[in-house]
Amino acid sequence: MAMLTNEESKHARWCLGPNPKSLDDSSVEVIKQLFLDQTGERYARESVRTLPIPEWGGNLVLLDSNDMIRGLLWANQFSEDRVRIVAFAIDSDFKGKGFGSKAWDLLIEAASASGHREIQLEVRGDNEFAIDFYKKRGLEVVSKLEGYYQAGIGYVMRGPIQTK
Ligand SMILES: CC(C)(COP(=O)(O)OP(=O)(O)OC[C@H]1O[C@@H](n2cnc3c(N)ncnc32)[C@H](O)[C@@H]1OP(=O)(O)O)[C@@H](O)C(=O)NCCC(=O)NCCS
Repeated sequence: MAMLTNEESKHARWCLGPNPKSLDDSSVEVIKQLFLDQTGERYARESVRTLPIPEWGGNLVLLDSNDMIRGLLWANQFSEDRVRIVAFAIDSDFKGKGFGSKAWDLLIEAASASGHREIQLEVRGDNEFAIDFYKKRGLEVVSKLEGYYQAGIGYVMRGPIQTK
């Protein structure tokens, strides 16, 4: 695949996403492919549509200059105190350009504005890059998950919502 120029990725931006249940078929296909490429997880169309992600500041989609979906940060308000990240993935062409960090900051801002104090997520045990990304942002492994991922063990990570 051709490399993106800085000029092209410059026009990508995070936008508030719709509830997954109202995504059109082609967007669902793009998201399924994104999950498969970036996490190795295979989702059925209906599994994408039924993910419990309301419209709020923690439902973010990365759109390119053609308004194509190139990344997602899907989180929900798990409880009064806690926000949970359900999915976080960015297209290879757009990784390593600061978009992940930006989405994280937007989520923390929204979560803190709605009075949430903690953030939690599940990550594959072999995903060192992501584990490191979350540790740098104040999260710690709080428990080990057996049989959650096909590929091996997973971790639950949790941390306080730190506002800058
Ligand atoms: C995890 C993910 C969402 C992060 O998004 P991203 O846009 O790549 O992240 P950023 O460009 O903001 O970079 C994040 C950090 O990695 C560093 N980094 C980026 N590219 C790098 C590279 N090629 N080599 C080393 N470090 C790099 C950045 O400097 C930044 O450092 P910081 O954490 O100290 O701020 C993205 O990499 C991804 O989709 N990964 C695959 C799916 C996945 O693992 N999801 C998480 C499942 S729980």
